[in-house]
Amino acid sequence: MRPCRNWLTLLLIVLVHSACSGLAGEPQQLATLTPPPLDRADLVNGARIFAERCSSCHGLTGAGDGELALKASIPAPGDFTQPLAARNQALLQWLATIRDGRIEALMPPWRDALTDGEIRDVALYSYTLHYSTSQLTRGRRVLEETCATGCAGLQALGDLRDPATLDRLSDAELRRALPDTLPNDDTWAAIAWLRARDLQGLQQVGQPWSSPAPVSGVLRGQINNGTQGFDVPPGLKVTLLEFDGNAPPELRETRSASDGSYRFDDLTLASGRSYNVLVEYAGRRFPSARLNADPGGAQIDLPVTIYETGADPSTIAMTALVQQISVVDDSLQVVLVARFHNASDRVFSSENEVAPGQFASLVLPLPAGARDLTLPDESGRFLVDPEMGTVTDTLPLYPGVDHMVQLAWLQPRDGTGFQLELPLNYELAGEVRLLLPPTLALADTGFASIGPQMVGASLFEGYRAELQLEPGHRLLFTLGEQAPALPSGVVAVETLALAAVATVALIVVLLRWRRSGRERRRVDDLARQIARLDEAHERGAINHDLYRRRRAALQAQLTGEGKGGDARTR
Ligand code: HEC
Repeated sequence: MRPCRNWLTLLLIVLVHSACSGLAGEPQQLATLTPPPLDRADLVNGARIFAERCSSCHGLTGAGDGELALKASIPAPGDFTQPLAARNQALLQWLATIRDGRIEALMPPWRDALTDGEIRDVALYSYTLHYSTSQLTRGRRVLEETCATGCAGLQALGDLRDPATLDRLSDAELRRALPDTLPNDDTWAAIAWLRARDLQGLQQVGQPWSSPAPVSGVLRGQINNGTQGFDVPPGLKVTLLEFDGNAPPELRETRSASDGSYRFDDLTLASGRSYNVLVEYAGRRFPSARLNADPGGAQIDLPVTIYETGADPSTIAMTALVQQISVVDDSLQVVLVARFHNASDRVFSSENEVAPGQFASLVLPLPAGARDLTLPDESGRFLVDPEMGTVTDTLPLYPGVDHMVQLAWLQPRDGTGFQLELPLNYELAGEVRLLLPPTLALADTGFASIGPQMVGASLFEGYRAELQLEPGHRLLFTLGEQAPALPSGVVAVETLALAAVATVALIVVLLRWRRSGRERRRVDDLARQIARLDEAHERGAINHDLYRRRRAALQAQLTGEGKGGDARTR
């Protein structure tokens, strides 16, 4: 039990940290004269993003049959499983639609919610969605046979092993460069292979022969102390977590050298593997970013920053807060999502060891009468003290990294005019949003309406304000009943149109939030998606190759879920 729990805590630290580091922890690029080389896009990551962000409209298989499309809340998006959907567009055009959206057609822009790398991953995933395993196998053969003596037309297009060249060209343009003596199907197969052969994760989505051979390599890095005036003592314990496919990660340990560097030799670098390093210092663990193995190079550099510990609450501020209220019988359900920021150069974590190896960080008071608290499923991260009415977070707050907290509870609602309160232990400095069911109205004047907001299948009225409150204060809202505005028959059509617009707005808003602290996806949700996919396959609704790729991708996500993280930081 013990090791298992410790183990989960380790993972949690890694997960939460790597989820956040995309925002604030990424090293800054100093020289911007030449653009950085393009990574090989990662299809597994693309598949995950597609299932998470795109399937509500585009459908799980990309066939354009997502929930919102079926409900006709959005115009029908195209069917990406059909070759014609993408092949006449250059990848860059396709990618630009994803980045900038087509807001008039309710396709949201993703530039704020996803990083450039994530956009490229999901762009290549959706662009190549109609390629099939058999097509790729055949395409490889065709290309090798036809071009053994050189394919002048293709060569004239530039270096086709350079992703930048391929990105500028559509599949249709590539195909025109092949000799026109080839059978039609063979040419498309050859182009599919040409575009997909260097993509990462091709293996996991169904093509076992495509990845470069594993090489043996070294993972090394420098440990720095991010707290001003402090050094890195020698001999710190460094743990390497090596993730490979479905298996639980392998652990290796070493000690840091006197110059603060560490090193692991004889690693097998193969695509699909990724690495995290944890450094133990002053009883706390400090994670590196998560890196994918790159069989192209034999050395991986993974720096780690450690910090001195500090527990000064005045360095902590709540910088954003959303409270979503629903009426449940005669109570209110409050869902709270808050973002915290640590402005100091110390890791915020107290000396109060609330469980072995876990120290209290944030202490969050709940309003009087709160009951049936729901905590996110993050193995032992939070501790509840029913007597004090507090929730204690045990995840340290790293300097400069956004820290997300999500809680839900029920509280009584008495009479018609009633107050909703939230006691604050830390400074509040930022945007507060309140989402109310249409039957409740907000009496406070300091809030501006942001109109209807769709969350899942429910419609809320949204309000916002920029607030500044000292610790020790309570955030108070006065709520009242709202008279129904129109006979329901009239509202229906308009609500539908509004809901569609609001969906896009809210998706964008929520994603922007979630980017700084992606909560863990629900395993059962993935399992359900797999079940739906199996069912569609049994019905004969999707082709077998696509089914296999899709299932493998979902399966990879599911196991990624079990091991508690994904390779987001490259
Ligand atoms: C709210 C619904 C919605 C979501 C979510 C959504 N899309 Fe779209 N998308 C659309 C609609 C509708 C269109 C069709 C737009 C049009 O007709 O011009 C579209 C079009 C596109 C196109 C252009 C296709 C073409 O034929 O030119 C691409 C590419 C695309 N979406 C990718 C994505 C990706 C990738 C994601 C997730 C990161 C995503 N979409 C999420 C609704 C959505």
